[in-house]
Amino acid sequence: MQHIFKSYLKFLWKSTNAHGVHSPFVFDLIRKCFYDKTNHPEYKILEEYRNSLLQNKNTIKVTDFGAGSRVFKSNNRAINKIAKNAGISPKEAKLLTRMVNYFQPKNVLEIGTSLGLATSALAVNNITEIITLEGCQETAKVAQSQFQKFNFNVNSIVTEFENYLKNGQLKTENFDLIYFDGNHSKGATLNYFELLLPTISNEAVWIFDDIHWSPSMEEAWEIIKKHPKVTVTIDTYQWGFVFFRKEQVKEHFIVRTSKSFLLDTVLGIKNLWGLLY
Ligand SMILES: C[S@@+](CC[C@H](N)C(=O)[O-])C[C@H]1O[C@@H](n2cnc3c(N)ncnc32)[C@H](O)[C@@H]1O
Repeated sequence: MQHIFKSYLKFLWKSTNAHGVHSPFVFDLIRKCFYDKTNHPEYKILEEYRNSLLQNKNTIKVTDFGAGSRVFKSNNRAINKIAKNAGISPKEAKLLTRMVNYFQPKNVLEIGTSLGLATSALAVNNITEIITLEGCQETAKVAQSQFQKFNFNVNSIVTEFENYLKNGQLKTENFDLIYFDGNHSKGATLNYFELLLPTISNEAVWIFDDIHWSPSMEEAWEIIKKHPKVTVTIDTYQWGFVFFRKEQVKEHFIVRTSKSFLLDTVLGIKNLWGLLY
C-alpha cells in the first residue's frame, strides 16, 4: 500500500491541468470531455444500475482469475460487496460515458466485466456495439441479467481473456475503444496489449485501468508508452490513455481529470482509502 500512496504523491507533483498542455488534440479532450461539468441525463441510469447492485445481498461463488483481491478473503462474496469494492467508481463511470460521447466509437471491447459497472457506462449512450469479456461464470451471469434489466445492447462473453484474444478472427476486428480492466499484472497487461495491436486503427482509444496499482504495473505502463506504434499517452493516475494517431508527435502527458486540484486530490485519496478498507 505504501507504493500506492508514494506513486499518488508523485502523480500530484508531476500532473498538470489543461493549461500545461500544448497539443490541441489533448487540450480539447481535457477541456471538452474530462472537465465537462454538464449533468448528463445518462448519469441517472448509471446511478440506478449501481444502486440495484448495491441493494443485492445475494452471494455468489467467484472464480478468481486476476492478480487477486486486496479486499476479499473468501471466494463466496455478496454482490453488493463486489459492487462496492471491485468496479469502476461513480466519477470514472461518468468520465467513461463522456469518453463514448466524445469519441463516438462504433465498436468497443471491455476486458473484465465483473458486474458490468463500467459496461453500463460504455453502453448507456446506446451508440456502440460492445463486447465484454469475463472469466467467472457466476459473476457474468449477474452482469448479464443486469444488462437485460436495463435494456443494454451488450455482447457478454464468458471466457478466459487469453483464449478469446488468441482467436485468429480478432485480426479482422477494429475496436475503436478498448477498456482494459482485467488481470492487473505486468505480464498479462503486456500480453493483451500485444495480442490486440493488430486491431488498431489511427483513431483507436485504449484505456488501461490501474496503471499505478503496483510497481510491476508501472513497468508495464512504461513499456506501453515506449512502443513504436504508440504516439500520445495520458496518465490520469487511475487510467492510462493510449492513442496511435500518426499525425501526433510522440508525447506523454500527466493530467488531472478535474479542473480543481483540491477536488481531484480529495477524490483520489478517497479512492485509495477505498482500496485499503
Ligand atoms: C476489476 S474487475 C472488472 C471491473 C469492471 N470493469 C467494472 O468496472 O465494473 C476484473 C474482472 O476480470 C476478470 N478476470 C481477471 N482475469 C481474467 C482472465 N484472465 N480471464 C477472464 N476473466 C478475468 C475477473 O473475474 C474480474 O471480474
